Amino acid sequence: MTITLAFDVYGTLIDTHGLVSELRRYAGDLAEEFSRLWREKQLEYSFRRGLMQNYETFAVCTRHALDYTCSACGVPITDEEKAALLERYRTLPAFGDAEPGLAALQEAGYRLFAFSNGSADAVETLLHNAGIRERFLGVVSVDDLRSFKPSPAVYSHFLRKAGATGANAWLVSSNPFDVIGAVSAGMRAAWVKRSPDAVFDPWGIEPTITLTGLDQLQGSLEAYLSGE
Ligand code: 2OP
Repeated sequence: MTITLAFDVYGTLIDTHGLVSELRRYAGDLAEEFSRLWREKQLEYSFRRGLMQNYETFAVCTRHALDYTCSACGVPITDEEKAALLERYRTLPAFGDAEPGLAALQEAGYRLFAFSNGSADAVETLLHNAGIRERFLGVVSVDDLRSFKPSPAVYSHFLRKAGATGANAWLVSSNPFDVIGAVSAGMRAAWVKRSPDAVFDPWGIEPTITLTGLDQLQGSLEAYLSGE
């Protein structure tokens, strides 16, 4: 049975904190805190827009979250500087383990897809820029449905687009809410616990496997699947 892998993009393949050194120009010692709040608000806005059925693209959530974070941290950034930061957000770097991990999985015959809250054009730009686009059979975006993770509809949409079923499809994500969403919608899921301090939500819905980096994914999958 060929296994299909749905890779979350922001935070799993691509480092959402890749602009911290640029943020130091504006936020100084607050740059890391600024970056963390920006990301948290971006996700919160996507959750709220999903619940309210008031869809705007993930890029709009990112822009509004930047405005919020500037106000909350008392960091005055001009509209031109914000536009430049948002442009740089379109070319955030990949994590160092992404390319070797993806290459090993592709060579082992897994079907790889990128699956994101980001719109397809934003994800294509990110993956091309990071030099990893060729590893994927395709990009599936929640934008097709005008909703966001973790709505169960977007995981079903992924399965339909990828021609897979929940039993042979895995989500790979460092975001616990995404892992819980996928398992709850009938997929399997690998949680990429990038930091030893990362905490998984105590909902009683567990990742199928947990790993600390994408370079471990092929080995962990083989070990799990051979034990079934
Ligand atoms: C993504 O869908 C949730 O940021 C995450 O790429």
